[in-house]
Amino acid sequence: MIVLGIDTSCDDTCVAVLEVRGSRFDVRSNIVSSQIKIHKRYGGVFPTLAKREHKKNLPIVFKKAIREAKIKENQIDLTSVTAGPGLEPCLWVGVNFAKDLARKLNVPIVPVNHIEAHILINFLQLSTSNFLLPAVCLVVSGGHTQLILMEKIGKYRLIGETRDDAAGECFDKVARLLGLGYPGGPAIEKFSKFLLPSSYFQIRFPRPMIKQKNYDFSFAGLKTAVLYDFLKRPKKVRKSKEYKILVAKEVQQAVIDVLILKTIRAVKEFSAKSIILGGGVVRNEELRKQFLQNCKLQMADCKLIFPPKELCTDNGLMVAVAGYFNKEKATKDFDKIVAEPNLKI
Ligand code: KG4
Ligand code: ZN
Repeated sequence: MIVLGIDTSCDDTCVAVLEVRGSRFDVRSNIVSSQIKIHKRYGGVFPTLAKREHKKNLPIVFKKAIREAKIKENQIDLTSVTAGPGLEPCLWVGVNFAKDLARKLNVPIVPVNHIEAHILINFLQLSTSNFLLPAVCLVVSGGHTQLILMEKIGKYRLIGETRDDAAGECFDKVARLLGLGYPGGPAIEKFSKFLLPSSYFQIRFPRPMIKQKNYDFSFAGLKTAVLYDFLKRPKKVRKSKEYKILVAKEVQQAVIDVLILKTIRAVKEFSAKSIILGGGVVRNEELRKQFLQNCKLQMADCKLIFPPKELCTDNGLMVAVAGYFNKEKATKDFDKIVAEPNLKI
C-alpha cells in the first residue's frame, strides 16, 4: 500500500511517500521545503505569507516526492493530510491540494491530527507497541506543549498543556530578544554549548509551575523573566557573547527541568511503560540527554522513545504514518474534510 502524507500546518511545506508491506514500513521519500529564510525577517511565522509560499511550493514539493519515490501518481492508494491543529490559512492549502489530488486519482483521504502525527512517527521504527503502552507522550514544539496519556493507537487523553506560550515559542522569542536569529531553538542550543569563564556572573530564571501538582505548563512568564533581566543589564553586557551564552544555557535548562519533572511525575501516576517524545524542541541534544539520564536514574523499566532529529520537526512522513494507522477513517466524502485550526487530540 502506498500512502501519501502532506503537511502545511505551519511554515514548512512537506510531502512524503510511504510504502507499507505487511507490518514493514519503507520510506520512499520525505521532502520538506523550509520557509525559514522568508520568516527570518519577521522573527516568527507570518500566516498570510506562509500560505502564499505553501501554494507556490506544494505542487513542486509533491512532484519531487513522487519523483524521488520512483512511483507514478496513480500508484498512490491513500492520501493523508494534516487537518489541524495549525495555522488555518496554511492548513487549507494542504487540505485543498489533497482533495483535488484524491478526486483525480479516485482514492480516499485520511484527515490527520498534527499532534498525533508527532507521536506516531515514533512507531515507524517499532515492530510492536504492546510492551510500550500505556505511554506518556510529550509533544513540544513551536505551537504546542502537551502531555498526553496514550492507551493505544487512536486512544489518547490530554492530561496537561501550556496555558500560554509553547516551549519552542519561548526559545524563539528569547532568541529574538538576544538577536540570535530565527528559529530560536537551534540558536539557543548552539549558544548554550559555548563555554563561559567560571568567574562570570550567574542567573537563575524561574521554573514556571514546577511545584504545581498538575500537568500544565506556562512559558510566557519565563520569557518575561528573561526580558526583565535583559532590560536591567548595561548595553555592553546585553550585547556581549558571554551574556547571550549565559541566558541561552539558563533558559534552556529551565525549560528542560519543567518538561522532565512533569513527564516523570505523569509516568509514575499513570504507571506508564514508556515516554514518547515528539515535536521540534525534541531535536535539542541537551533535552534528549537529560531525559535519558533521568529515566535511567529514576525509572529503569520505563522505555524512552524519541524520533531521529530530522523527524522531530514537521515533516510529511509523520502524516503518512498517522494516515496509515488511521486508515479506517479514510473517506471519499471530501466535503466533510476541513481545516481545523484548533483540532484537539
Ligand atoms: O514541530 P515543529 O517543526 O513545528 C511546530 O509544530 O511548531 O517545531 C518548531 C519549533 C520551533 O519553535 C523551534 O525553535 C524549535 O522547534 N526547535 C528547537 C530546536 N530545533 C527546533 N528547540 C530547541 N532546540 C532545538 N535544537
Ligand atoms: Zn509540529
